[in-house]
Amino acid sequence: MSRILQLTDLHVFQTPGTLLRGVDTGGYLQKVVQHIKDTDVAFDAMIVTGDHTHDELPASYQAVRSLLSPWIDRLWQVPGNHDDRQVLRTVFADRIAGEADAPIQFAFELNNWLCLGLDTHLPGAVSGRIGADRILWARQIADRSAAARMALFCHHPPVLIGSPWMDAIGLEDRELIQDWCVSDSRVQLICCGHVHHEFSARLGNAEVLTTPSTGIQFSPEGSTPRFVPGSPGYRIIDLQSDGYRTQVIRIPDVAIPENPADTK
Ligand SMILES: [Fe+2]
Repeated sequence: MSRILQLTDLHVFQTPGTLLRGVDTGGYLQKVVQHIKDTDVAFDAMIVTGDHTHDELPASYQAVRSLLSPWIDRLWQVPGNHDDRQVLRTVFADRIAGEADAPIQFAFELNNWLCLGLDTHLPGAVSGRIGADRILWARQIADRSAAARMALFCHHPPVLIGSPWMDAIGLEDRELIQDWCVSDSRVQLICCGHVHHEFSARLGNAEVLTTPSTGIQFSPEGSTPRFVPGSPGYRIIDLQSDGYRTQVIRIPDVAIPENPADTK
């Protein structure tokens, strides 16, 4: 068995203690990191599925790097809408190949699984786009791989989640990922961020899962963005020879603002 930890939507600020709707996102990430250390969970890879920072400043990325430094040798990343590829790439230069604003994507194999990180970042937009070139890159790697199963990791989910306000800022060309997943039954798991809560759906032979933020939690209800009280979380994914198991871990004993929607 191989184990992956997925962290998503960190939204860290340059200045420690800065609040996002009443939530200390940097402090919450510290709690998540401490929880991982305290539980002494062994894992093979840590994947961050975007929105590393909220302000997209170098010092914020440095703060994230410092917190995740115990696992830098097994860290893989894709950008979210709240990311600047150039700054992300500069701060994590030893982990992210390529230059300037090139897509940030990854591929590695674990236990007969091919794990692919897809870049859905669309500069200047909250919504995402994968684009034909990035899908071609992924499909070519998949075609060359003898892995029996595939897991995809990206920021924007490639399906509608049934939330009017969130679906309006979703993946614009999600049919590109959908077409691929329907045509290749090896794609069995797609782990995403962006929606800041837990959600699941089927796509071809794959289960699409979203994961709670390590910081602030959203509600899918309503027609406008809505923040809800909730503990920070992350996901454990166990890749087995005959399938996978996964669970969301919520951090206990974290002070949660009672009504984050009403606080600034
Ligand atoms: Fe986010």
